[in-house]
Amino acid sequence: MKGIILAGGSGTRLHPMTLAASKQLLPVYDKPMIYYPLSTLMLAGIRDILVISTPEDLPQFRRLLGSGERLGVRFAYAEQPRPDGLAQAFLIGRDWIEGGPCALALGDNLIHADHLSTLLRAASHRPQGATVFAYQVRDPERYGVVSFDKTGRAVEIVEKPAAPQSNWAVVGLYFYDSQVSDIAASIRPSARGELEITDLNRVYLQQAALHVERLSRGCAWLDAGTPDSLLQAATFVQTIQSRTGMLVGSPEEVAFRMGFIDGDALREQARQLGKTDLGRALMELAESAAP
Ligand code: G1P
Repeated sequence: MKGIILAGGSGTRLHPMTLAASKQLLPVYDKPMIYYPLSTLMLAGIRDILVISTPEDLPQFRRLLGSGERLGVRFAYAEQPRPDGLAQAFLIGRDWIEGGPCALALGDNLIHADHLSTLLRAASHRPQGATVFAYQVRDPERYGVVSFDKTGRAVEIVEKPAAPQSNWAVVGLYFYDSQVSDIAASIRPSARGELEITDLNRVYLQQAALHVERLSRGCAWLDAGTPDSLLQAATFVQTIQSRTGMLVGSPEEVAFRMGFIDGDALREQARQLGKTDLGRALMELAESAAP
């Protein structure tokens, strides 16, 4: 399966920080924001990744991520000239997807959970339909919201409802089968003029092909689109890392654990990060795993 990271938009809720820099390149504690969704896709076993951003910001993503060779993955890049909606990713990426299944990760979403790799692998191996993840939040009206019947079956999915039918928000990580580009081509812009990912998901729901995985309270899902959520995400990462010594959202670590790169390649990554705590943590990982 391939995967797209959508890192476009104008980041208006983070102005003036995003007047001259892409939101998804802002730091979340010790890493650029895009490292978190990148790590998530890699944890799902995805090694072909299309990064979509604005024409102005795309060169910075290329500079940061390069070809992907150092992580044992392949990056491709494409422009989204205007923020015309998340589902547009599958039209921009249509030729690159080559009619296969594809995942989408939003560039400002951070997921941290026990057994996440098991959930992600199950989603990426599901041969038909779509998989989305739902998480209980206090402010569902800010998100896509999914509601369930008494048997726990998803019955409705609505984008930013004024009167949410549940508090289950749809997380910015989606797995689709090979129908996805055709379905994306069939949906029309919403009232706010965007190709909504929620409308795409609704097509799968109507086909009884939308698998909704409810994340338990032990999971953390954060978006980093406002000053408060950006600070919360940074504090979260700092708290977990400094308390446990384990990294959150390190594509180098994931590449090593997934077997995309070997210990020597990891040591080289660690060396390049020099005397940072991140570099030291990666070096320790390489040494501890050495035969
Ligand atoms: C987007 C989606 C929404 C989803 C959210 C997750 O909202 O439209 O359905 O719940 O991402 O972060 P946006 O961030 O574009 O407002």
